[in-house]
Amino acid sequence: MDDLCLLFTDLSRDEIPLITMLGFLLHGSADLLTARLGGAVLLPCFVDRPLPLEELEVDWRRTDSGTVVHLFQEGQSRPESQGDAYIDRAHFFSQEIPKGNFSLLLEGVRTADAGVYKCVVYTEQEQRETQVEIQELEWLVVTGADEPVYAHAGEDVTLNCSVDTHVNVTELEVEWRKTDDDILVLLYDDGENRPESQDDRYFGRADFFTEEIPKGNFSMKLRKVRTEDKGEFRCQVHSDTDSANSTNVFLIFLGYSSFHWLILGLCIAVIPVVLLTGALSVRHLIRGGK
Ligand SMILES: *[C@@H]1O[C@H](CO)[C@@H](O)[C@H](O)[C@H]1NC(C)=O
Ligand SMILES: *[C@@H]1O[C@H](CO)[C@@H](O)[C@H](O)[C@H]1NC(C)=O
Ligand SMILES: *[C@@H]1O[C@H](CO)[C@@H](O)[C@H](O)[C@H]1NC(C)=O
Ligand SMILES: *[C@@H]1O[C@H](CO)[C@@H](O)[C@H](O)[C@H]1NC(C)=O
Repeated sequence: MDDLCLLFTDLSRDEIPLITMLGFLLHGSADLLTARLGGAVLLPCFVDRPLPLEELEVDWRRTDSGTVVHLFQEGQSRPESQGDAYIDRAHFFSQEIPKGNFSLLLEGVRTADAGVYKCVVYTEQEQRETQVEIQELEWLVVTGADEPVYAHAGEDVTLNCSVDTHVNVTELEVEWRKTDDDILVLLYDDGENRPESQDDRYFGRADFFTEEIPKGNFSMKLRKVRTEDKGEFRCQVHSDTDSANSTNVFLIFLGYSSFHWLILGLCIAVIPVVLLTGALSVRHLIRGGK
């Protein structure tokens, strides 16, 4: 106690304001932020201790255009100040503000959201700012066929699967699965086709169009369709940053082609002839045997 008194008496007038100004530290993120196109990203901005709300102002804006992303003033957030592009997309966490957490949640991320954001915090005595950058936008879109695929037994079919992503295709893992039997039909991993992982039923019968893969075309060629192939096939794509994604459903309805009917027709026509000839020869043999 005595020491404390000594400390204060030792301070000159000029030094006292310095003590009250030993203000807050504002933190952002040194790491570049990555966001998924259409997803949400948290823009961090927080202080080490709560600040009095009455005198607090938090101003989030783009450094390039100066557009206001969001504003907190006079104890509440001010959506009316937001730039058009950010209305209903950028939110404070109201319960976190009293704790000194002024982070922003940006939803429905668009390509134009990449850039540098500045979080400026004003109190009565001082002002601090920090910056965060959304650098990389990520996307992974998988499309298949809108309609079921129809095939006849014995025919070859192509099941579509196109991948649009920011990732180099060699970094993707693409699995074709037959979902109703839960078997692996075809696998692409570490930049190549992995036939050793294929289920026996599809070994040598299902393939990628290798030369099409760099274009994101992971369609599957299935040869000599069999009755047991009927069902649902799904193309699952995984990247490092994004776990499993969009699935596509294919149905193979099996029928018989005109070729099969022709064969069947021939059989129907030929069998009686064979039987008749057979019967005649037997009779001939029996007679000859007598
Ligand atoms: C701020 O609040 C958000 C939302 O609750 C949370 O995710 C984030 O971790 C908080 N930041 C700090 C530094 O507490
Ligand atoms: C597969 O994709 C190609 C090229 O986009 C398209 O012409 C074809 O109709 C698709 N097939 C199916 C079954 O959707
Ligand atoms: C993808 O990665 C492979 C192997 O690392 C490389 O040869 C190829 O040029 C890359 N493609 C693109 C579009 O960057
Ligand atoms: C993928 O490539 C195959 C073979 O060239 C082609 O038949 C198919 O239509 C392509 N699919 C898409 C979706 O482009």
